[in-house]
Amino acid sequence: MIDAISFQNGTLRYLDQRFLPLKENYVATKSHIEAIEAIKTLAVRGAPLIGVAAGYTVILGINAFQGSKEEFPAYFEQLITDVEASRPTAVNLFFATARLMEVYNANYAEDSLESLVAKMLAAAVKIHDDEIDNCDRMARFGVDQIRKDLASTLKKRKLTVLTHCNTGTLATGGSGTALGVIKLAWQEGLIEKVITAESRPLLQGLRLTAWELEQENIPFYSISDSSSAFLMQKGMIDFGIVGADRIAANGDTANKIGTYAHAVSADRHGIPFYIAAPVSTIDITIDNGTQIPIEERNADELRTIFGTQVATPTTPVINYAFDVTPSELLRGIITDKKAVIGNYVEELRKIV
Ligand code: MRU
Repeated sequence: MIDAISFQNGTLRYLDQRFLPLKENYVATKSHIEAIEAIKTLAVRGAPLIGVAAGYTVILGINAFQGSKEEFPAYFEQLITDVEASRPTAVNLFFATARLMEVYNANYAEDSLESLVAKMLAAAVKIHDDEIDNCDRMARFGVDQIRKDLASTLKKRKLTVLTHCNTGTLATGGSGTALGVIKLAWQEGLIEKVITAESRPLLQGLRLTAWELEQENIPFYSISDSSSAFLMQKGMIDFGIVGADRIAANGDTANKIGTYAHAVSADRHGIPFYIAAPVSTIDITIDNGTQIPIEERNADELRTIFGTQVATPTTPVINYAFDVTPSELLRGIITDKKAVIGNYVEELRKIV
């Protein structure tokens, strides 16, 4: 059983994903500074899990506060700013801080600090519980949609699915977004095998998705990111499904760098390509993908592999962590409320 994150007696415990699958290292901390660092360094990662971690990190920060009630608002504001500065793209992080700010705003005037903190902790736990439930609902909607869209192929044989990055238990705490759909489709006998793209430079597909699939005994192959178009050309992929870090109001979707290239190739080959993401990943405040803030990460992530230098230290690097897939390339967006097939502007607004 993978225990991606938990919070008990004021301690945050998480599985440090940086060294998986080679080292299974669980970390326990009461420090919000360490928790922020865990989000920044991708020890904890994946949009829904980042949201869950952000909620608990705020609670750790509040637990460290030692001042008076009058001093609390300034401290809390700074704490939220620090947590929000950890990673810019996954909107789940801002969804979590907004939820906790709502609880704070609604209760600060009336409550003692103790009771305020208890209500905020309950809200953080609810974000966690909700993400687990969301995965189960998404999986059901996703499998039903795949049964419909790929019915004629399914009459003849089982399916091969392409996925990118890691969207499973490690990324959500539940069964997963895209990987949750894949796991349920496998359980229901729809899947022959999974193709997991390595997801350079941090290899979430090769290291993490492969690790999860192995534990579930689901047959898979890992490929280099650049192989997907060729496999599609050879008829080796029936559909693609990936997660999301932020979905704009028109359905344009930011996800791990490399997703856009898979989607373009899928479109070229007439292969359905889906996003699976909870409603907490939809950012209705922005109209389209050009407005999604895209994280740029340290150049050394490319110049080194697991600490080994593979390029000169002065090699100039462009290292966007995410790209944006225009919604016109998508067959649909599977959410925890429903599978949205086209008409994104209207449908996404309705479900948020
Ligand atoms: O940089 P990461 O590993 O946090 O990126 C994760 C992804 O891009 C996932 O595909 C996305 O968050 C969806 S997770 C269910």
